[in-house]
Amino acid sequence: MSITNRAFGQVDLLEELAPDVERLYNRHLEAPREWFPHEAVDWGTGQNFADKPWSAEDYPLAAGVRSAIYVNLLTEDNLPYYTNTLLSHSRAGHPLLDWNHQWTMEENRHAMVMRDWVHISRCIDPVLLEEGRRVQMKTGEVPRPETLADLITYVAFQERATQVAHRNTATKLPKDDTMGRRILGLIAGDETKHYLFYRDLAKAAFAIDPSAMMIAATKQAVNFAMPGTGIPSFTRHAVRIAREGIYGLGQFMGDVLEPVTGWWDLEHLAGLSAEAEHAREELVKMKVTLTEQVERLAQRLNPVRPALA
Ligand SMILES: [Fe+2]
Ligand SMILES: [Fe+2]
Repeated sequence: MSITNRAFGQVDLLEELAPDVERLYNRHLEAPREWFPHEAVDWGTGQNFADKPWSAEDYPLAAGVRSAIYVNLLTEDNLPYYTNTLLSHSRAGHPLLDWNHQWTMEENRHAMVMRDWVHISRCIDPVLLEEGRRVQMKTGEVPRPETLADLITYVAFQERATQVAHRNTATKLPKDDTMGRRILGLIAGDETKHYLFYRDLAKAAFAIDPSAMMIAATKQAVNFAMPGTGIPSFTRHAVRIAREGIYGLGQFMGDVLEPVTGWWDLEHLAGLSAEAEHAREELVKMKVTLTEQVERLAQRLNPVRPALA
């Protein structure tokens, strides 16, 4: 990459990132967390639905936790469309293509093992789940980040958000559902590794093309929504999930936006274009607004009463 090219904003980010993709992909492979879905499932506890039709009493659970399991599982089901998006930003012979395949292979088991647990534990109505899957997959609605910079920043936020959602859902399950807790923990572990890959790939991309990445980061942060907008009654589920403290504005701000953008050290990015400087300011303003919203929300849910003297 010549200085002239950079000055004219003609950075081929995909080409420039190849060594970093290779480095981070190797790091991913060198930290194996091998697990087998069949070992995590307690098959003996299942019952045929023909013998015993599903009922909500089979597994009493708060509505927000049920919504979280439903949305998280359907999101994992939508994998073919996410893979499709990732592949559209890669090309033959590039290490990013190998990473995309590895990522798809690891993601593919999430829906499988979750569904085994859901059906055996009966924590979700199987008919509702299957109908939701059909609607969602026929719609094929997933975010389609425009550029590679958009994609990398979006996926970094998204993998982190997914990790948080699975982890927090696990903590809300009854203590005696060790199968569910273990399975969601295993999935969250995979998401952590995926997050680390994209977080650090983005960090490398910031060094190559800081302006394009800064603009992309702001755009993706401002527009960020949990995947799942194609799921029937998504908004209703999202509200319940937030109320349950599993994933909402507070988690997005405190567990996603702050740690991820903090890692990228956006305050100290140098050599930004005027547009990118503007994007950086916009992100700071957005964080202030969001923090105020989160505080107001917390106040409403849990008002602090002045202590009696
Ligand atoms: Fe996943
Ligand atoms: Fe993931």
